[in-house]
Amino acid sequence: MPLTTSGSGVGAADLPSLQTLFADDPDRVSRLTLAVAGLTFDWSKTHLTAPDLAAPGSQAGRDAYRDALDRLFAGEIVNPTEGRAAEHLAERGSGSDDSVALAAVRRQRMRGLVDAIEAGAFGDVTGVLHIGIGGSALGPQLLVDALGRRERRYKVEVLSNIDGQAFDAAATELDPATTLVAIASKTFTTAETLRNAEAALAWLQENGVDDPYGRLVALTAAPDRAVEFGIDETRVLPFAESVGGRYSLWSAIGFPAALALGMSAFDELLEGAAAMDEHVRTSPPQDNAAFVAATADRLYAERLGAPTRAVFAYEERLRLLVPYLQQLIMESNGKSVRVDGSALDRPSSAIIWGGTGTDAQHAVFQLLHQGTHLVPVEFVAVAEGDDDQDPLHHRELLLNAFAQGAALMAGKDSDDPHRRYPGNRPSATILLDRLEPRTLGALIAFYEHRTFAEAVLLGINPFDQFGVELGKTIARAIDDPAQREKFDPSTRALIEQAGL
Ligand code: F6P
Repeated sequence: MPLTTSGSGVGAADLPSLQTLFADDPDRVSRLTLAVAGLTFDWSKTHLTAPDLAAPGSQAGRDAYRDALDRLFAGEIVNPTEGRAAEHLAERGSGSDDSVALAAVRRQRMRGLVDAIEAGAFGDVTGVLHIGIGGSALGPQLLVDALGRRERRYKVEVLSNIDGQAFDAAATELDPATTLVAIASKTFTTAETLRNAEAALAWLQENGVDDPYGRLVALTAAPDRAVEFGIDETRVLPFAESVGGRYSLWSAIGFPAALALGMSAFDELLEGAAAMDEHVRTSPPQDNAAFVAATADRLYAERLGAPTRAVFAYEERLRLLVPYLQQLIMESNGKSVRVDGSALDRPSSAIIWGGTGTDAQHAVFQLLHQGTHLVPVEFVAVAEGDDDQDPLHHRELLLNAFAQGAALMAGKDSDDPHRRYPGNRPSATILLDRLEPRTLGALIAFYEHRTFAEAVLLGINPFDQFGVELGKTIARAIDDPAQREKFDPSTRALIEQAGL
């Protein structure tokens, strides 16, 4: 049965239904399942077909991807609009020899600082206030929340928003006398981060800390600016300009995670990512998890017109995965111009949304089961639980995840249209054996590679983000009374109404 626009409202295409695909191929599950680095990917409940898998995408797409991958791994320029390589892979040992060596030296520097803190060089340290935004916050926050629940050697509060409420909330969790402040900013120019850094200095001072600047650490690709800010060079942890913000958790930006989880856990995270890099680098397209996933993403965006895709982590420890992925995918691939400057002639990467299971089942799943939008869903779950409760909790959590995928696909007929579930709704599942640094590293690296693969298939540059610049410029201009007059009447009225 083809997908139809009537009834199910899931978009038109001459594709067989999921049920037909299963009925026609007894080996569908094994054909569309891949195990890599402690992760099992199951795409059997998507509309990918056996021929799709035998030769995913077009020959031209596969060739372009191979070429782009070679350039990515060689540390060549893959971000032409900024004339840069994208060297986050080197942070985990997978890039060009020179960049890998430099990243290793810088990691050694981070290790030195972690060791010094542990050895008491900064007196009694109980926590870190990590100040950063976007890629300078979401990654470390995800790592600490996902991996630091059982054992966190230092308390970590991540402060990103310029809203003073965020500062107040973070500060009440920390003791100023024993807190280090990590200022994380690739550029060291980001308004929110600098404003919060000033607030942190004032907070330390007001609370009697003798040398507030002596409590600051900088994580940045602009070490000179950090030193200019007043941070001693010995506490500046640099990383390469060629490491993009949303790809930077492997670098010095991961400092709070390295401190809170321990340097060996951080090393394992990098090893897990490197295992995924190796898989992607050496696998033919049909066995390459990132390329297969990107092929499915293009299928739904282009052939079936799905404007969004949803990710549900059936794992409380991964509750910050969705915000992390939103930046990674939407800031990378939310573009309408190809690398050569021509207009993109197809939908860009889908809007990413989602949440945590089972909570989301009781909030947004209605739309997934019966709404008129086609939403490809991804379930991310962990086979082995790690809570202190009756194992029934984890068992039921997993069973719920699998039941949702089954229900979306099977649907249920009824004479009553209100109680009819059209089914044939796609989902993919990523099952981690356990949630540990290695598997989390592999999972995040998988999403990075998938984003890259989709960008190559679209012909866009995933490594720039000019779309955010206009808002930053206008935010500065709007505070200048001389320039205000140039703003539209609605904006001027709002400023007046707010008394600014
Ligand atoms: O405004 C977007 C952005 O540039 C992101 O790409 C980046 O992760 C974030 O801001 C923070 O930038 P920085 O690390 O330079 O402070």
